[in-house]
Amino acid sequence: MSITVDDAGSLPEERVAAVRAYLIAGAGKPPPPPIKGGALLRRAPSWAPRAVRNVGTRALRSHSKRLAVEAQRRSPLRLHLGCGWMYKKGWVNIDLFLTTADIPWNLVTGIPFKTGSADAVFHEHMLEHISRWEGFAFTQECLRVLKPGGILRIGVPDAGMCLDSYANPNDSDWDLDKWPTRMLGVQALFYQSDHRAMYDAVTLILMCRAAGFAEVKRRDFSEGWLQPSPDTPERREGTLYVEARKGSD
Ligand SMILES: C[S@@+](CC[C@H](N)C(=O)[O-])C[C@H]1O[C@@H](n2cnc3c(N)ncnc32)[C@H](O)[C@@H]1O
Repeated sequence: MSITVDDAGSLPEERVAAVRAYLIAGAGKPPPPPIKGGALLRRAPSWAPRAVRNVGTRALRSHSKRLAVEAQRRSPLRLHLGCGWMYKKGWVNIDLFLTTADIPWNLVTGIPFKTGSADAVFHEHMLEHISRWEGFAFTQECLRVLKPGGILRIGVPDAGMCLDSYANPNDSDWDLDKWPTRMLGVQALFYQSDHRAMYDAVTLILMCRAAGFAEVKRRDFSEGWLQPSPDTPERREGTLYVEARKGSD
């Protein structure tokens, strides 16, 4: 239900209470249960303080460089960046310390592979976790490590879809009505989960072109040059996919 400013003074008390509860409790959800045993590591990306993960990643840097030299021999060489817990077989999975990564590595410090060595690079729901400046440099790094003709595939939350749904309350592609107010739904996408930058299709496509990719296309889930598709089924709804091809010269 959308509410106009005129309605604001006459809101039902339960809506006021829902907004109050949400604003007090952060995500409006009960706190997560205590973490035990094996669940500890599986839950790490969401709870481990970023500083701990960065320090761990830095401490392992020499070891990770050696792992990258070994992985460099793979053929085809396909890099899955910011893998989190979505480990992909046949790919070299890279993320910060405390994930399923084959190589713990802070990707804003570059990608530890040789220029022109990778057949494909894939990252899904990772780009929005770094600033737009870091994201642009990171996209240039993806271009650098790809072979001529190599493919970068990116998946990010579709912020354009979210904002379209906000502007058109009858458009339910992005379900904003599950939040106490629709604006709090927009806030959740833009500011929660350690999100630092948001993309719509035109911004992502132009960023890839600006980074130097020869050809860039918006893609549907699982569709495109990169086959078999690495897209994660759980990410299908609300994800914007783009593919970018490195020129052959
Ligand atoms: C929302 S999770 C997505 C994980 C997985 N790709 C998925 O779709 O479920 C974002 C991931 O990006 C990783 N990430 C964010 N910044 C990073 C960085 N600078 N270097 C390496 N990984 C990073 C996080 O550690 C986290 O695992």
